[in-house]
Amino acid sequence: MSSQDTTRNTNSNRRDFLKASAAVGGAVATTLTAANAVHAQGSDILKVGLIGCGGRGTGAAVNAMRAEDNLRLTAMADIFGDRLEHSRNILQRQIGDKFAVTEETSYTGFDGYKELLAGDDVDVVLLCTPPHFRPAHIEEAVKQNKHVFCEKPVATDAVGVRQVMDAVRVAKEKDLNVVSGLCWRYDYGVRAVMEQIKSGAIGDIQSIQENYLTGTLWHRGRKPDWSEMEYQIRNWLYFTWLSGDHIVEQHIHSLDKAMWLMDDVPPVRATGLGGRQQRVDEQWGHGYDHFAVCYEWENGAKTFAYTRQQSGCSNNVEDYVMGTKGSAKILRHSIEVGGEETFRYRGPKPSMYDVEHKELFAAIRSGETINNGDYMCKSTLMAILGREVCYTGQTITWDQMLNSENDLSPPVYQWGDVEVPKVAIPGKTKFV
Ligand SMILES: NC(=O)c1ccc[n+]([C@@H]2O[C@H](COP(=O)([O-])OP(=O)(O)OC[C@H]3O[C@@H](n4cnc5c(N)ncnc54)[C@H](O)[C@@H]3O)[C@@H](O)[C@H]2O)c1
Repeated sequence: MSSQDTTRNTNSNRRDFLKASAAVGGAVATTLTAANAVHAQGSDILKVGLIGCGGRGTGAAVNAMRAEDNLRLTAMADIFGDRLEHSRNILQRQIGDKFAVTEETSYTGFDGYKELLAGDDVDVVLLCTPPHFRPAHIEEAVKQNKHVFCEKPVATDAVGVRQVMDAVRVAKEKDLNVVSGLCWRYDYGVRAVMEQIKSGAIGDIQSIQENYLTGTLWHRGRKPDWSEMEYQIRNWLYFTWLSGDHIVEQHIHSLDKAMWLMDDVPPVRATGLGGRQQRVDEQWGHGYDHFAVCYEWENGAKTFAYTRQQSGCSNNVEDYVMGTKGSAKILRHSIEVGGEETFRYRGPKPSMYDVEHKELFAAIRSGETINNGDYMCKSTLMAILGREVCYTGQTITWDQMLNSENDLSPPVYQWGDVEVPKVAIPGKTKFV
């Protein structure tokens, strides 16, 4: 790995990935054996690769290595050599003998993910880059017969969501596991309170309030030798093509719980408002710092979703569920009926980040495949719908959103200039 790798140009673009995906289905029959071989030999070492070696990726590799003894981290890829190096140093210390990454299995640049996925060095891949790259990475991982753990969200536009929907369908046909980083679905307390609600503890759900009200996040500055592309990818939170904006990048955790409460039936339409008041300088890209969205379901139920990233304000992260008989607070794991707490989960609370990987590797060993593809795509699209109603000021239906042709990808993936989009103005910005 040389420092030059980090500035290598590639000319691949997402439209090419989409064209290539048409061929994936045809390969299914001939590659089934390769995927099944992984869980045929239950005690073999499983080789794990990491793509996107930042905070979450490094953490996910540690979580994965805790899942069982017979695992090795064998390959790593990050677009930037310095980020990969930093993560390698941490992982070498934290996972000890399970660290088996070499110079030859360390990849950088836009196409590093392809090189990592091409070889036999990896059975399972952890996809932890900024969300924009997820559709191409999931598609390639499935094409190369890898089991997948993929962080949330899985795309930043509907074109990307549809690409992931196709890839998870192929994964199902190939018996490949796809575990989503929508981690609350792997939390014992959240599972317990959801089970109570689904067995009727609060009656029928009438409304849900989703709060994700927090402060501001990191900014990684600007160096004179960085191109605009490098600057944006390093500061990906503030560029919608990369992060989806914070309603997609962060509030998805809440929206996913609303989707789960509604049995993964999507809302029919949404209306909302949002904007930026604190993060107005150039360094914050073109994202908003607050969103408020009302999602409506066919049966009349509504979710009121609020998210804010502003400092100096009151913070609150909780899911409030109002039913015909009672109410629930999901993160508190509690149910109230008639003003009394009738249920509170107080059982074991292993880290949900560890549980994701324990269940993934157990499924690979047993052959009982997990595929979280359906809800991870729906929850991502629900978050994108929320962003679009706020950016445009329009009421937008689920079907319009699902069929949107708005492709946020840059024309080409290479170091150099890339557009800095204007801040969306409701009533002026058009829905595409
Ligand atoms: N489930 C959770 O609780 C949770 C928590 C934090 C982050 N996340 C998600 O994890 C993902 C990563 O977030 P993070 O906090 O680790 O960000 P980060 O910026 O710390 O890490 C992202 C890494 O990906 C690398 N990268 C960027 N583009 C790449 C590409 N095309 N190919 C390879 N590597 C590339 C970056 O250089 C960086 O090292 C995001 O989708 C985020 O939403 C989930």
